Amino acid sequence: MAGIDYSERIPNNVSLADNRRLQRALEEWHPKFLDWWMQMGPDGFQAKDVYLRTAVSVDAQGWAQFDYVKMPEYRWGLFLAEPEAGRTIGFGDHLGAPAWQDVPGEYRGVLRRLIVTQGDTEPASVEQQRHLGRTCPSLYDLRNLFQINVEEGRHLWAMVYLLDAYFGRDGREESEALLQRRSGDRDKPRILGAFNEKTPDWLSYLMFTYFTDRDGKYQLASLAESGFDPLSRTCRFMLTEEAHHLFVGETGIGRVVQRTCELMREGKTDDVRRLGGIDLETLQRYINFHYSVSLDLFGSEISTNAANFYTMGLKGRFEESKKRDDHRLKDSTYSINELDGDRITAREAPALPSLNERLRDDYIADCQRGLDRWNQVIKKHEIGVELRLPHRGFHRAIGLFAEVKVAPDGRVLSEAEWDARKHEWLPTETDQAHVASLMQPVTEIARFASWIAPPARGVNGRPVDFEYVRLA
Ligand SMILES: [Fe+2]
Ligand SMILES: [Fe+2]
Repeated sequence: MAGIDYSERIPNNVSLADNRRLQRALEEWHPKFLDWWMQMGPDGFQAKDVYLRTAVSVDAQGWAQFDYVKMPEYRWGLFLAEPEAGRTIGFGDHLGAPAWQDVPGEYRGVLRRLIVTQGDTEPASVEQQRHLGRTCPSLYDLRNLFQINVEEGRHLWAMVYLLDAYFGRDGREESEALLQRRSGDRDKPRILGAFNEKTPDWLSYLMFTYFTDRDGKYQLASLAESGFDPLSRTCRFMLTEEAHHLFVGETGIGRVVQRTCELMREGKTDDVRRLGGIDLETLQRYINFHYSVSLDLFGSEISTNAANFYTMGLKGRFEESKKRDDHRLKDSTYSINELDGDRITAREAPALPSLNERLRDDYIADCQRGLDRWNQVIKKHEIGVELRLPHRGFHRAIGLFAEVKVAPDGRVLSEAEWDARKHEWLPTETDQAHVASLMQPVTEIARFASWIAPPARGVNGRPVDFEYVRLA
């Protein structure tokens, strides 16, 4: 592939032009990535012009350049946030030592696993969302979907960069494997559970971007604290892109809520299904589902791995540097749940193995903020319903609560009670069939599907009726 100018083809701030070994690794990987993208990326639309932002540098002018691009020609770049001069490790046994610019030999395996686990989620979500373009509720939403898809692709590149640049041969093998696993595949599934679930419709997708991408935000934020500086800088830059994905989820669900309330008021009925809307009860059940599977992504309440990642200086807490404690946590405790017969109680546990639970707590508080905003919309329409996050023990498959059935209000239930009532709390076949029936493509400029309100504003200062994807 001689003659390709890699700084043009692959915008980067990692001195790719001077790094022959990395160039060679990427030259080999790039065509395989494109094969994967054509096979598993957005179904259809690959030849269409999409109004996308591309990062071409990390400064304010370069990180978001907007133009029409055909997705396979998207320039997936490699970017690290600017280095912090004299950065030191902020927690764990190596607290205060200079941040590592190379992989610390003794942690090589663990670090590689952390990077692979994060990297695996990126292509997984693209695979989960690949059919959605065909049923988009508007061109604006279609464009946002593709923006997220190409950026998840770039996040894969970001992790592959770390593997190729710092882990030699086994890094290259892991890079290949990231393109071989498939979301939901029985033989070679993606690593984490939520990334093997289906994203069958746009409501699930909006819920996914609100709840599951938000897990990504918390994982990335903890890795951004890492003592391994290239990982820290990579994740810091990824977080700027992740913010948009969360925005799509939060405003997307907000627009569904808005539309539902409008239909309830106009039709003077709670039964908005026959008006082409999604009723609040169904929205609540989708929230319950996506929130609970996303909670599982944080792992068990008590985890030796989490303790080790921290002690080793590889993965910190959310906003570690803002916390005022000893950043070692050997003598501190943290409050976690415990089961006492059919009661859920709390106990103080050693802080280090409780780090998953602490991150989950940060995540839960963040999730609640969106619900507060959606509830504002409902209130403004003078409708007496509130959307709620279910209890953290509800519908869990990992950790303490995997052993019991818990109602959304936190009561521990018998199997029989759970079976009798779960249809009230989780999306039913009827809900899913109704949502599926609404998934009719709307691709005329400025038009929106019946179940979702238009956004308050367009993308990058463009009007809402801008031609975000050229389908003609
Ligand atoms: Fe991502
Ligand atoms: Fe994301």
